Amino acid sequence: MSSSPGRTRTRSRFAVLAAATLLVGSGLTVQASLPAAAAADTLRAAAAQAGLFFGVAASPGRLNATVSREFGQLTPENDMKPDTIANSSGGLQNTGNADTLVNYAQTNNMLVRGHTMVWHSQAGALQGQSQAVLNNFIGNALNRWGNRIAYWDVVNEALEDNNTGRRRNQWPHTMNRDANGDGDTFDAGDTDVIRDSFIRAKQVVQAGGLTTKLCINDYDVEGLTVQGGTPNRKANALYDIVRNYRQYIDCVGFQSHFNDNPNSIITDDLQANIQRFADLGVEVHITELDIDDDLSNNDIGAGQAANYRKVVRACLNVARCTGITVWGIADSESWRASERGLLFTGGNGNYQKKAAYTAVLDELNKGRGTSPSNPPSNPPSNPPSNEPSNPPSNPPSDPPTSTPPNPAGCTATVSLNSWTGGFVATVRVTAGSAPVSGWSVGMTLPSGATVTNAWNTNRSGNSGAVQFTNVGHNGRIAAGQSAEFGFQGTGSAGSLTPTCTATA
Ligand code: G3I
Repeated sequence: MSSSPGRTRTRSRFAVLAAATLLVGSGLTVQASLPAAAAADTLRAAAAQAGLFFGVAASPGRLNATVSREFGQLTPENDMKPDTIANSSGGLQNTGNADTLVNYAQTNNMLVRGHTMVWHSQAGALQGQSQAVLNNFIGNALNRWGNRIAYWDVVNEALEDNNTGRRRNQWPHTMNRDANGDGDTFDAGDTDVIRDSFIRAKQVVQAGGLTTKLCINDYDVEGLTVQGGTPNRKANALYDIVRNYRQYIDCVGFQSHFNDNPNSIITDDLQANIQRFADLGVEVHITELDIDDDLSNNDIGAGQAANYRKVVRACLNVARCTGITVWGIADSESWRASERGLLFTGGNGNYQKKAAYTAVLDELNKGRGTSPSNPPSNPPSNPPSNEPSNPPSNPPSDPPTSTPPNPAGCTATVSLNSWTGGFVATVRVTAGSAPVSGWSVGMTLPSGATVTNAWNTNRSGNSGAVQFTNVGHNGRIAAGQSAEFGFQGTGSAGSLTPTCTATA
C-alpha cells in the first residue's frame, strides 16, 4: 500500500525549472536543471511529490471526505490502544473501530500507523502484566493487520518528563533490572522492556514475512536542546536507546505536541536532531503534530503558520524524515481544542482551512532541499530498512574534510549541518588496512565556536583544540570499517580538519 499523488493542478508560477543536485559516479556532485513538478493542491499530493506521507489521527466518527482528500496516512487516535483492544492475557478484543479505520485507509490508499502497544498509559487489562503477556499482545496485534499497517508504535512514551533523561518509573518499566549496576539496562544480563518488546516484535515481523516497520515514539524529544539551550536529555536518552537497539528499531516518532512548556517549545535545532537520528539509519516521523497558536506572541494565525512551516521544512530537509502526521483535523475536535493547534477550523466534516494549512501546503510544494545534504529520498512505500547497525550516514551539507589516507592507522571525516549560530558535526572514523582497538580524533575549532554536547565519544576541551576518543562500544573497528560519533556546538564550525590516531 502506498499513498497516491491525488489530484494536481498546474499553476504557471510553478512551471519553472528547478535546480537539482545529482550525485554521479565517483562522488562528483553536479548541479543540473530538471523540470519542477506542478504544485499540488492537497496536503497528501504535495507530500507524495516530495517523497513523504502527510497523515492525520482520527476516530471512525471523523472519517469524511476531507480525510481521504487531504491525508495520505491515518493513525487511530484512540482505537488501537491496549485499553480498547487488549484483554488480560494479551489477546485481542473490541477491534471493530480499529478495523473500520484500517479498512477506510485501505480503500483510500492511505498508509496506517498502529498506535500503540507498550505504554504506561491507557494500558487497560495489560496494566501490571508480565513481559510474556506483552509479547502475546505484540504478536496478536502485528498478525491481525499484517502489512495493512505500515508502521507500528511498539513502545510509546518510555521516558520521564522534566528532561531528566531517565526511563519512566511506572509499569511496564518497573520490570527493568540493571543486573550489573552500571546505571543502564542495555547490557545482555539486564532486563529491559523496550528491548524485549522490540525483539518480540521483530521476531513476529520476520516469521510472518511482514514489511511492517517498528517504531519508538515519544514527546519533548524534538530538539537537540530545550528552551534556554539546555541539552535535551530526553532526546539524548532516546538516541541511546535507538543506537543500542538499532537492529530491532526501524523508525522513530517525534510526537511534536508543541506548546510553551520549556521542554516542548520548537527549537532551531529540530532539523539537526532529526538528522542525528536519521544518521543511525532509521526513518524519522513527526507523528502527532499540533502547535499551540499562542506560541508566537498571540499573533493568532501568522505565528502558528510560520511555526508549522518551520517543522515541515526541518523534515523535508532530511531525506530519512519520511512522514508527518497531524493529531486531528480541526481545532474544535482536538484533545487540546483551546490551543487551536491544528490546520482547520469548523467541525463535523465542515472544515475551513487556516493560515497554517496554506503554509504547510506551500512548504510541501517546495519539496526537499536541493543541497547535497538532502538527496532525493525513497518514496515512503520503499523506505530504507533493516540496515546494518553502522549504516552510511546521509551525505553531508558541506563537502567532508578528511585526513590524508593512512595505510594502517585511521582516517576521520567531518560532515556538518550548520544553521545561524550553531552546528552539528558527524564524524566518521575509518580504520586503515589493519583493525584498530581504539582511536583519538583531534581538530581545532575556529574562534567563537564552542562544543555544547557530544555523543558516542569522550571529549576533552570545548573550544580551540578539542580531542575526541572512543567509548567502550566503538573503539574496535575492523580493517576498512567505520564508526561514528557526533557533537553539537554554538557559533560557526567553519571548515574542520580532523586528525586521527589509532591504537593497534
Ligand atoms: O469516548 C469517551 C466518551 O464516551 C466519554 O463521554 C468521555 C468522558 O470523558 O470520554 C471519551 O473518551 C475520551 C477519549 O479521548 C475520546 O475522546 C477519554 O476520556 C480521553 O481520555 C481520551 O483522550 C485521549 C488521550 O490520548 C488519552 O491519553 C485523546 O483523545 C488522544 O488524543 C490522546 O492521544 C495521545 C497519544 O495517544 C499519545 N501522545 C499524546 C496524545 C495526546 O495526549
